Amino acid sequence: MKENWWKKAVVYQIYCKSFKDTDGDGLGDLQGVIDKIPYLSDLGIDCIWFNPIYPSPHVDGGYDVADYYGINEEYGGLPAFKKLLETAHQYNIRVLMDMVLNHSSDRCKWFQEARKSKDNPYRNYYIWRDPVDGHEPNNWANYFYEGKGSAWEFDETTSQYYLHYYSVHMPDLNWEYKPLREELYKMMNYWLDMGVDGFRYDVFPYIKKPEGLLSITDVAPLPNGFVEARAKKANLPGIHDFLHEMNERVLKGRDVYTVGEGSAVNPETAISYTRADREELHSLYHFDIAVKNRILKPLEIKEKLLRWNKVYENGGWIAQWLNNHDRPRQVSHFGNDKDFRKESAKMLAVLIHTIPGTPYIYQGEEFGMTNVCFDSITDYNDAYTCGAYDMLVRAGENPKDVLEKLRPSSRDNARTPFQWDDSENAGFTTGTPWIKLNPNYKEINLKKDLESEDSVFRFYQKLIALRKSEEAMWNGNLQMLLPENETEFCYLRETEDSKLLVLLNYSSEKKELILPEDLDVKDATLLLSNYDREKDLMDRKAFLPYEAAIYKMV
Ligand code: GLC
Repeated sequence: MKENWWKKAVVYQIYCKSFKDTDGDGLGDLQGVIDKIPYLSDLGIDCIWFNPIYPSPHVDGGYDVADYYGINEEYGGLPAFKKLLETAHQYNIRVLMDMVLNHSSDRCKWFQEARKSKDNPYRNYYIWRDPVDGHEPNNWANYFYEGKGSAWEFDETTSQYYLHYYSVHMPDLNWEYKPLREELYKMMNYWLDMGVDGFRYDVFPYIKKPEGLLSITDVAPLPNGFVEARAKKANLPGIHDFLHEMNERVLKGRDVYTVGEGSAVNPETAISYTRADREELHSLYHFDIAVKNRILKPLEIKEKLLRWNKVYENGGWIAQWLNNHDRPRQVSHFGNDKDFRKESAKMLAVLIHTIPGTPYIYQGEEFGMTNVCFDSITDYNDAYTCGAYDMLVRAGENPKDVLEKLRPSSRDNARTPFQWDDSENAGFTTGTPWIKLNPNYKEINLKKDLESEDSVFRFYQKLIALRKSEEAMWNGNLQMLLPENETEFCYLRETEDSKLLVLLNYSSEKKELILPEDLDVKDATLLLSNYDREKDLMDRKAFLPYEAAIYKMV
């Protein structure tokens, strides 16, 4: 296999607004990230992915970009970003920008111009339609508000509707219009020329709109089912041409990495997006395991991992992750943040870092930050949570029940500030934080974790270091042993000259360790475990709750 730096790399995701504030305005900033680059280097990560840090009204946490060429002044503006790039590179840390290519903010100059008149040069950057019988052009729902609001908004000035798959303040860009594509490519080249090392493409499967959209009479209403309707709008014929063109115009000849955020993508499609000879994306970030509103059973996770391993086996590549700025904290959702917080945090880390793909760490995960439980909707900020709350309460549901229902999946679980220590506001800010902190910060914070003997952070450090010393960690084929076992994971990662064995007890119960009979473990040496373990695998009988161990076999 050709060696690419991003296959070996560990990516660390930063939600800047909640990372570290240095000027006391209650918002994280780039100086805060610069100050913590030595910390990230100490952790061992190779690459940072920034959630959008462009100027934005923040209707949707920055995914509503108002100026694609700028950096939010509240974060320090372009000078701070350039300094950050320089500092990160000095530490051999690469930097990925979030590219929001499906939509812009309605405050973006392009849209401000476009809405002025039908013949404005920017008009076709967006998707406009006449009303049909005085109503929206079709019944499409936007993705906020659980599919209960229209994807069309009427604009008085020109008496036409514009399309917005997300918030009404995030009009969709018209990829069919070549000058728009050219504008985007120019902008992406501008960031790469500045020294950025790659991109994460936000909701890219939706950039190609359904056929017929351009002629209003052809637009058949999509099924009302929200998820179904959404899937029908993703990965449509023609998207590969766009991605290939973008690759040619922006990425070709550069040593950069791209990862496409692909909800509604299956492994077969992922292969077609990421196999090197396709020249589209380098890797795909799928949502099959971190599904919304449901916690998968360990066996389901195992099955899905195997299903997605087809991508790796067929020359494609994926990201491995369990939490991000849109999903609950992984130790709360997939682990046990009550009785086995540290053990399960470490076990999940081993899982993500030992299966084929590039592992992603979301800020705070590295010492086991947990979900938050706010008592009032006014403490929530997430557009999904607030929008859905509004819709459901207006539809007559009991406000308390609605809050209860929305809490576990609220995106604010991941967006509360980083808990650096147990001082006021967890050391995040000296001002008033933009969102409340998780009140558990006195107990769970980085400083305390580092002082403890069973530090989660130190465990991550060792795990990441292993990726550097053991080629099989990133380049080995996966062989799942005991595939039907419900909670025990036992698998090999193997290259021509090295072999690792990974054992996980994905449960809160103590189990008996049963290894496959034909597995020869007499020479196995322990590389890492989240319990104090005897070195010899032969002597082991018990498998402790959330135990995780990596052995070297050859
Ligand atoms: C992606 C982002 C999410 C955002 C949405 C619209 O899913 O991760 O935070 O709301 O795109 O840009």
